[in-house]
Amino acid sequence: MSTLPQLTEHDALTTVIGLQSQYSADIIGLPIQDPLLTWQVASDRSDAVQVGYEISSIDEAGQVTVSAPVASAEQIEVLALGHISKAQTVTKLRVRIATQYGWSGYSPVITYETGLASGNDLIGRAIGDDSLHSAPSPIMRKEFASAKRVAKARIYATSEGIHSLYLNGVCVTDEYFTPGWTAYDDRNTYLTYDVTKLVQSGTNCFAAEIADGWHRGKFGFMNMYDNYSTKISLLAQLEITYEDGSRDVIATDESWKVSTGEILFGDIYDGSTLDFTKEQKGWKLAGFNDSSWSAPTIHTIKREILEPRVSTRVVEIAEFPARIIDSKNRTLIDFSQNISGWVRLVVDGKKGDTVTIRHAEVLEDGPNLHTAALRTAKATDVYTLGHDGRSVLEPKFTFHGFQFAEVTGPATFISATAVAISSANERRGFFKSSDVRLNRLHENVVWSIHDNMVSVPTDCPQRDERLGWTGDAQAIATTANTLFKVGSFWRSWLTDLWVDQQRVGGVGAVVPDILSKQPSPAEGAGWVITDRAGWADAATIVPMAAYESYGSSATLKQQVASIRAYVESLSAHRKGEKFLPEEFQFGDWCDPDAPVDQPWLSKVKAQFVANAFFANTVQIAADVEALVGDAEHAKKYTELAATLKRDIWEHFGEEAKETTAGCSIALEFGIVPAGERTAVAKILSDKVIADQGKITTGFLGTPLILHALSKNGHFEAAYTMLMRRKVRSWLYQVDQKATTIWERWDAIKEDGSIHKGEMATSSEEQPDASMISFNHYAYGAVIDWVYRNVAGIAPTVKSPGYRHITFAPRPGEGFTFASASVDTPLGIAAIDWKIVDNGNLAATIVVPFGSRAVIDLPVSASSTLHVNGEAVSNKCEVGYGTYEVSLSAPAIAPFKVA
Ligand code: BGC
Repeated sequence: MSTLPQLTEHDALTTVIGLQSQYSADIIGLPIQDPLLTWQVASDRSDAVQVGYEISSIDEAGQVTVSAPVASAEQIEVLALGHISKAQTVTKLRVRIATQYGWSGYSPVITYETGLASGNDLIGRAIGDDSLHSAPSPIMRKEFASAKRVAKARIYATSEGIHSLYLNGVCVTDEYFTPGWTAYDDRNTYLTYDVTKLVQSGTNCFAAEIADGWHRGKFGFMNMYDNYSTKISLLAQLEITYEDGSRDVIATDESWKVSTGEILFGDIYDGSTLDFTKEQKGWKLAGFNDSSWSAPTIHTIKREILEPRVSTRVVEIAEFPARIIDSKNRTLIDFSQNISGWVRLVVDGKKGDTVTIRHAEVLEDGPNLHTAALRTAKATDVYTLGHDGRSVLEPKFTFHGFQFAEVTGPATFISATAVAISSANERRGFFKSSDVRLNRLHENVVWSIHDNMVSVPTDCPQRDERLGWTGDAQAIATTANTLFKVGSFWRSWLTDLWVDQQRVGGVGAVVPDILSKQPSPAEGAGWVITDRAGWADAATIVPMAAYESYGSSATLKQQVASIRAYVESLSAHRKGEKFLPEEFQFGDWCDPDAPVDQPWLSKVKAQFVANAFFANTVQIAADVEALVGDAEHAKKYTELAATLKRDIWEHFGEEAKETTAGCSIALEFGIVPAGERTAVAKILSDKVIADQGKITTGFLGTPLILHALSKNGHFEAAYTMLMRRKVRSWLYQVDQKATTIWERWDAIKEDGSIHKGEMATSSEEQPDASMISFNHYAYGAVIDWVYRNVAGIAPTVKSPGYRHITFAPRPGEGFTFASASVDTPLGIAAIDWKIVDNGNLAATIVVPFGSRAVIDLPVSASSTLHVNGEAVSNKCEVGYGTYEVSLSAPAIAPFKVA
């Protein structure tokens, strides 16, 4: 790190307009570590560049720390050394930068609040009751006095199971399903809540409800009931600091009182049952008579596995009004969007009336809810009204994947609102084009990501599954990163991937690896299904995607040990042979030409897929080692990747060329030798054109195929596939009124019937193992291609985090405009192009401060290109600024829509 020479001038025209740490701004109780700061700058000088920066901070005691100025152009993940050292403190941080003209003003101030020094600082005892799954949720309370003026109050809390906390009747957060799902055997998180405003003078009441969540209860493949343990419990403490400096700590312990109330049942898959005639009125408030309540059962909780929560929060992201379809004997509602969440219902009724609401993604003939796709998940909320008149009803400790709902019961339906929740709660990417169907497809992908990022990245939000399938996660990671700020969500999940990888001895097919805790269909013991191609590769693909999109070297550093262990485990698995053996693989899962009930039997040879993903993983590992690991491993993996690629092509090349997935994987993973790329890409393009763009790939091939085509110049084939409307296409789903991405291309068949999702794996324990979801995000990976090629905006992995941007739109015939913007670490990057009257392509391109960009428009032999009025040749490299670009005679990709 070099220091900046003395600088006294002031650059009044340059401002640091934004500052973030690596964590979401709405999270407190962060790790005690040097934060990584990222900032955005605006300047009225087009030639200003950052030559250095200075980080300063002020702690709670007013102590100011100014770091020595550093000579550097870096604006992403800059280590703020020496500002954070103490637990449970709030530090205000700010930055100013130096340009060649002098110092800018200071950035906005951000706060970084640390959590506990360790889980051992939770001094209380974990309390629960002796309830079993399906018993009423324990409710707990404790009163305490507070007489002095409060300076600061925080609750630190974790649980086995999920919790809701209240102080004086007010819920302490707008977040749901706390503390979220992690690899609970070895890692649980605690949360920090700011409750300063909720402590009152006099007697207070600290209250809690807990439920099974992912910890215990019906969750996972085989309906296991005790996934992590038979117990649920809460470990929490409220710490109040008074203005006179004194402190009070109110922690969970044997002095608390426990009972049950209206929550008779709360289960993620099945729904919740609330009987308000059993509600204990006022139990969350001071003064309630709890003399009939019991003492809690004391549980043992592993404090050493507790870490501060760093993932994004599950919060409400949108509400949808109801459209009533039928109100004869029931109220059947369409909420117009398939979401994860629940219904807020308003009814008029009598005390004791029961109101039942069931949920589904689609309707079948009747019309009735189609619930077969939910398998055993009941997705039903039942309420018993506690009084005459109006009631507002919302479920507890459950969420459903649905667009439609049916309400029954004697009470009069008044209104309903669908409440959507997600961990992907901050958008960063936006897209629009002249094609309304493509725009709807984009929205469908946005929603499938919202709906499937609920604490962990899941396969689907509706049936009795909702697991962190690694294959689905790696397929969508790049697109999810373009659309959302989910960097810390992935970092948290990747931590669990590594934690479980060490526990189980390989990278799971699901993370958290709950399958390893379930009886295997064959063996009856733990179902250890690890290191499978395209699934376990989330271990390398997801960190690399975060590096490319967010510029996050920290994610790579965090994962380097996991990546190395994965490569070594696969290498050993070859047992001295050239290739990974033939064995069960998920393959190009859900290849639409596979036998309908055996989605693993894809056309492309599974052993080729396994070895190709292995080679790709080794290549990524080599790159990661070169960036943040060690030179020796980088060299070893670079050589191994080259050998593997050569051997794979030699042995499997001919066969790979026979399938679209084979060609796509071989091209995208650099397995096809340079001299043969043109020929293989041509084979692929010919197949796609011959099939009129019909999709012939599954979960692994589909995210790659359009890139494999366009990177080799085959835009006609790529657009033919993207814009196809007949069945087996993205836009077929849009035409069928899909609002999310489906698991199978023909989930609704051309005759309007619903796919049965038949599966050969149905067994006695799981007779109804059908597989038909209307909300699986893997195929949504196509949106990455849309940003890069239709709008024409992409980060560059060699200069990640949009430090270098490629603006390269490649319009297809018929498109008259497209635009996209991404809120990059350096600020907004955007492109907005249109075909104007004279046939020219006119574009406005925005490059944020600190970025460089290549403007690479679709030139034809007769094109001329002007940037801000000046003629330039073909491609040009630009820095910070807004550019008006005009291209005459643009090359437009022709294609035919089938
Ligand atoms: C899930 C998929 C997953 C697959 C792997 C399915 O049940 O829904 O998305 O990747 O299993 O076997």
